[in-house]
Amino acid sequence: MIQQILFILLVSSFFWIYTNGAILNCDYSEHYNEKLNKHLYQCKGELLQLNENDTIIKSVTKPSNRQSSMSYVVELIIENQNLIRFPSDAENFFEELKFITVKNASIKNISNEILKAFPSLVELDLSINQISVIPKDLFIYNENLQFIYFAENRINFLSPESFDGLKSLKVIDFMKNTGINEIASTPDEISYFKIKLLVKNLEKRQTETMEKMFIWLAKCEFKFGSSAH
Ligand SMILES: *[C@@H]1O[C@H](CO)[C@@H](O)[C@H](O)[C@H]1NC(C)=O
Ligand SMILES: *[C@@H]1O[C@H](CO)[C@@H](O)[C@H](O)[C@H]1NC(C)=O
Ligand SMILES: *[C@@H]1O[C@H](CO)[C@@H](O)[C@H](O)[C@H]1NC(C)=O
Repeated sequence: MIQQILFILLVSSFFWIYTNGAILNCDYSEHYNEKLNKHLYQCKGELLQLNENDTIIKSVTKPSNRQSSMSYVVELIIENQNLIRFPSDAENFFEELKFITVKNASIKNISNEILKAFPSLVELDLSINQISVIPKDLFIYNENLQFIYFAENRINFLSPESFDGLKSLKVIDFMKNTGINEIASTPDEISYFKIKLLVKNLEKRQTETMEKMFIWLAKCEFKFGSSAH
């Protein structure tokens, strides 16, 4: 009897381990990175989901080259997949991710709890997804972020506190957001919104512009709050 129960427990735990979560299938390589001006080791990955919408990374394929190690990976790129959720638990495999791209992956939401695992993050590219809300304090655990891309999403809500904690921000890109087109009704309003949100290659001497943008964003909640008007 006890043996049978143990057997069932063993089988079901194996079943659980091998039918939950996702496997990240990595293509490892080294690339020159213009922003940091050095070569970085990256995983360009495909997430093999064992259940639909389950994006908890349970295992990662290892580099075939014995000289390499997963711990050298600072850049993670996942593109052109229908994931719905941001892949979680990557930090259990890659210790210090600095560049994360999850692009064209139907991601619907993002939170500071998800981003908390990446304190060294320099760039976050979430272009071409379905994110509609940039929550308050989204980046409070990522103060080293310099480049943020939310182009081609559905952003229709930003809080004045959405960018709190960012100390080194250089680029923030909100181009082609259908939500922004909806909440700003005239062409002038739309262009104004986009110009203000797109701060490209901002250098140190232009911090004044950045400050103006934050002031404008703070006003923006009043004008473009959670409702559509
Ligand atoms: C996966 O997400 C989509 C979109 O949110 C939903 O329609 C679908 O039912 C989900 N599937 C499962 C198995 O939860
Ligand atoms: C997005 O990914 C899908 C596959 O999921 C692909 O068919 C499509 O061409 C991609 N779109 C872009 C703009 O890369
Ligand atoms: C994102 O949405 C999914 C359902 O679509 C939900 O299960 C999850 O908790 C949400 N995550 C956050 C951080 O809001």
